Amino acid sequence: MCSVVGYIGKNYCRSIIMEGLTRLEYRGYDSAGFVCLHPQDQRLIYTKAQGGVKNLINNLENTTIDGFAGIGHTRWSTHGIASTENAHPHFDCNKNISIVHNGIIENYLEIKTKLEKSGHVFYSQTDTEVVAHLLEELLISTKDLNKAIVELVKHIKGAYALAFLIQDYPDAILLIRKSSPLCIGYGDNEVFIASDALGFAGKTNQVLFVPDKSFALVKQNKIELYDFEGKSLPLEFQIVDINWSADGKQGYEHYMLKEIYEQKKVIQGLVHKFKEIENSLWNQLGFANGIDDIRNLDHIYLIGCGSSWHAANIAKIFFENIANIETSIHLSSELRHSNFFAKKSSIAIALSQSGETADTLESLRFLNEKNIHTIALTNVKSSTITRESKGYFLTHAGPEIAVASTKVFSAQLASLYWISHKIAFEKSIINKEILDISKDNLLITAELLEGIIEDYKQDIIEKLAPYYSKFKYHLFLGKFISYPIAMEAALKLKEISYIFTEACPAGELKHGLLALIDQDTPVFMFSSMDNNIYKKLVINAQEIKARSGHLVTFAFEGQKELIELSDYSFVIPQVKTLLEPLALTGIMQFFAYQIAKNLNRPIDKPRNLAKSVTVE
Ligand code: F6R
Repeated sequence: MCSVVGYIGKNYCRSIIMEGLTRLEYRGYDSAGFVCLHPQDQRLIYTKAQGGVKNLINNLENTTIDGFAGIGHTRWSTHGIASTENAHPHFDCNKNISIVHNGIIENYLEIKTKLEKSGHVFYSQTDTEVVAHLLEELLISTKDLNKAIVELVKHIKGAYALAFLIQDYPDAILLIRKSSPLCIGYGDNEVFIASDALGFAGKTNQVLFVPDKSFALVKQNKIELYDFEGKSLPLEFQIVDINWSADGKQGYEHYMLKEIYEQKKVIQGLVHKFKEIENSLWNQLGFANGIDDIRNLDHIYLIGCGSSWHAANIAKIFFENIANIETSIHLSSELRHSNFFAKKSSIAIALSQSGETADTLESLRFLNEKNIHTIALTNVKSSTITRESKGYFLTHAGPEIAVASTKVFSAQLASLYWISHKIAFEKSIINKEILDISKDNLLITAELLEGIIEDYKQDIIEKLAPYYSKFKYHLFLGKFISYPIAMEAALKLKEISYIFTEACPAGELKHGLLALIDQDTPVFMFSSMDNNIYKKLVINAQEIKARSGHLVTFAFEGQKELIELSDYSFVIPQVKTLLEPLALTGIMQFFAYQIAKNLNRPIDKPRNLAKSVTVE
């Protein structure tokens, strides 16, 4: 989604803000903008550009636009197309107030209509611009900034992280936050602002997470924080050490490829971490009574969106088959709209790479209100979801830059595989030896994940990707534990190649999907080591071939019938059934990546998408 970055202090702000925006560009890259106060006469000076931060930097190159207080923005369009007019900052009528925004003002049309009637003129189609004009009105009527803000937040509905630079109040940047994330980094005679502390990592580690429903006046040496009624709030700084390595793509053509190849190391690192936290795990997950809470567990809710939801689908099978606990999976965007029946002795695990996904955050809050013990499984310790859960587990995959999730998906699988073994051990379902073997099996699978890519690399690059990039539709099939990996493969391919894909449980073929089978629609089938599942998949493969379908399989060594039925088969070394998805993850991602590369797609930043989905 959009990112907000700001700076006020002893240094010129332009390069600091450009660096922050570049780091946070994964949140949106439709357009970018920058505004600051002229260092001499305190006028607002600004520029905007369609496209990514690079275009904004180019725009700025031959200008003197710079100052000691500034705000910047990268946009992921919600209201109005991606254009320079709709790029932030936006202004009031007198260009006294500038504003940048992440979130959505739900009642903007209603406000805009009223303001237009009283003579305000709007220059963009955005929801954001109305806030600048509304503040203009309220400053006239209240003649006091704090009073005007208290009034402003009564009028606007939705989710917002807003930053303002106002000519009449040149010594401060004004921040207002409801739901959307915003943090402040306190330095020496300088203050940094960003949607994510990554934006100023390396510059200060003293971070204030702006509390929900609060506003702040950020000055060079002072921060004033207030609730929405205007009452002063204490400043609670935390030390946040974010490992920001600016080592870029390290020779890889795209971040996605780099991240695919990092998976083996990530899983190895995680297994090492598991050993470290073996004794403190329940504490970290927030269980006051430790093992007793675990032994009494009888239901697990897993929530997430997109790839995180696919990982949850696989983890359900881990919890049910390894730890013998009934588990249900819920899409975060759907959960709180249904009649939710909270079970006794249940916990909920929110899976989120970013820890900021708005739907997952809202579902988490919903579950917190229902008094369910919530646990965040995220990759970002300082994220809102981590902070608002009762316990947390970090996936330790390092920053994931490409929009399409790869290494965090496999880190989620590895983490939940081990956690389900830990629960099984506490419930005396397995002994210590099997618990230790679970870690060894993860290490073996990590080797396989990468080894399989290497085995098929040449074939994929030279033959398969050029061939399969020509088809307009691709279908993906799986059964039981291989169905979620088929869903993940379909998502990966569609988001980075723009090829239409659909995933379906293989058993559902004859209930509709068979109508689509022809030579122009390749079917990718993920097999299983489970013999019963395998036999059923062979029948489904025969159904496809009987209709002259084009079949590509991910089969395991020895699965002769399936391999013979296939037009092409990736033959994978045998693995434990429950670790099939993890073993197949790398090759499936690599294949999707190479197809997108053949189509010349902007793989790390696919059109219309963003990494951190902070709006519902
Ligand atoms: C797909 C992808 C998305 C995310 C989804 C949830 O490759 O990355 O589907 O998985 O937007 O994001 P997080 O995990 O950050 O909550």
